[in-house]
Amino acid sequence: MSVTLSSNIAVVPSGGACGAELKGIDASRPLTPEAKGAIKQALFAHGVICLRNQTITDEQLVAFGRTFSDLHAYPVTEYEKPKGLPPEVELISNILVDGKPIGALGSGEATWHSDMSMFDIPASFTYLYAEKVPPVGGNTRFANLYAAYDALSDELKQKIEGRKSIHDIAYIADGRLRPPYKHVTDKSKGPGAQHPVVRTHPESGRKALYLGRKGYGYIFGYPVPESDVLLDALWDHMVSPQFVWEHEWRVGDILIWDNRGVAHARGTLDPTLPRLMRRIVGMGERPV
Ligand code: OGA
Ligand code: MN
Repeated sequence: MSVTLSSNIAVVPSGGACGAELKGIDASRPLTPEAKGAIKQALFAHGVICLRNQTITDEQLVAFGRTFSDLHAYPVTEYEKPKGLPPEVELISNILVDGKPIGALGSGEATWHSDMSMFDIPASFTYLYAEKVPPVGGNTRFANLYAAYDALSDELKQKIEGRKSIHDIAYIADGRLRPPYKHVTDKSKGPGAQHPVVRTHPESGRKALYLGRKGYGYIFGYPVPESDVLLDALWDHMVSPQFVWEHEWRVGDILIWDNRGVAHARGTLDPTLPRLMRRIVGMGERPV
């Protein structure tokens, strides 16, 4: 069902666990206060929103993102970023030029994660603009972290109440080691940021399960084997089908997600089918 917010902006919820399409917005042009409000409201309500049929330059994309917050511009260490891109723009792609990747993640699987959670100040919103979309494969999955938290058993809620966990930085979402980090042998001492396992969204006030990335997490206060069992139970719960929705990309989509309310993942790609996304990431706040 479509909900009209004003004469020309409408929200069409996906009907799934999260996600909505927002109609009537041209992200390449300065936003009216009304459009900005509609985007934030839809993101807080649905976690992920899609603006279809957009045509936007890198500079316009950066300007669009800046209307919501400062942007991350951290140096990439796992591949050589193509010259000429603004510092805030990164490519997410499986395309190789002269045998070298032009963007992040390649054709590998991106396991469940929340962007930039390995830093003290993680991402607020991520914006991904689709320039080349393969005919098959490459959907992005999202898990609703509010719904996942709300539905936890009392026992699990109590086990994570007030606890922090390590959001590992040593491994990229595609499983490879992130230079210059070394393999982690003791998860309880691994590198990364420490964040509350349950965080409260700074604007919506809702509680969400915040696990960061699968693989090398660790919940403080437990021996590593117990933390592993607990994390496995939390991850299994979080990504169970009732909390997950999947986006099917079209060229021209700008997908925006709120990393404080949803986690995301992507399966492997066919390396012969090019996929090219341009990404900017909003600077969030220290999770509490
Ligand atoms: C990202 C990401 C997944 C995808 O850009 O942060 O995880 O589907 N992308 O490309
Ligand atoms: Mn990501």
